[in-house]
Amino acid sequence: MKIGVIGAMNEEIERMKAEMVVTNTYEFATVEFYEGRLKEKEIILCKCGVGKVNAALTTQLLVDRFAITHLLFTGVAGAVDESLDVGDLVISTSAMQHDLDVTALGFKKGQIPYFEGSSDFLANSELVELAVSAAKQSTSRHIVRGRIVSGDQFIANADYVQSLREEFEAACVEMEGAAVAQVAAMNKIPFVIIRSMSDKANGKASVNFAEFTQLASEQSHLLVSTILENM
Ligand code: ADE
Repeated sequence: MKIGVIGAMNEEIERMKAEMVVTNTYEFATVEFYEGRLKEKEIILCKCGVGKVNAALTTQLLVDRFAITHLLFTGVAGAVDESLDVGDLVISTSAMQHDLDVTALGFKKGQIPYFEGSSDFLANSELVELAVSAAKQSTSRHIVRGRIVSGDQFIANADYVQSLREEFEAACVEMEGAAVAQVAAMNKIPFVIIRSMSDKANGKASVNFAEFTQLASEQSHLLVSTILENM
């Protein structure tokens, strides 16, 4: 078992980097990878950078250069499910691109044209269940299992959040998960995405993001850490 762990930003990986025993560091395509051990597991930790292109590139590098067998994503997101508050957690059941729009040619919102199979990429059910039990063990925060939607936009608009609820039944919105999910699925690598809410993607999102990213990153880290322990 070789577990890839990705975060998009420093805040999202720094705790894990501090806890793990790093034996090697590598750089490919400007992305840094930290190889080592954590919770007695072989880990490759990396910061992919923000957005779907960075996320896709990094995921493929983890597969090609490190031959990972499992993939976990840790980070923050904007809440879409109305039961979620700042600091609460989403465990992905699937992930989809909310900004992929070829509706003019008759495709559904979020549907990848001429693509074999579903554009809603399913997380591995065993990893999801592992995450749910790890959450019960490690946090008293509210946990939602659900669809994560991703796009190359920071969402700070309550009307758009409403459309993400209606069109995608999304639990939360962020900028990398669906890209990681698609690349993992195309390479048949089991994955799950863990996100803690830094904001509610509404008019207050920018201020809340700045204020709560540290707290939310810590919540996500705690859950991913417990998942690793139980794997
Ligand atoms: N990551 C954290 N909050 C977000 C938001 N509101 N939109 C997109 N990505 C996010």
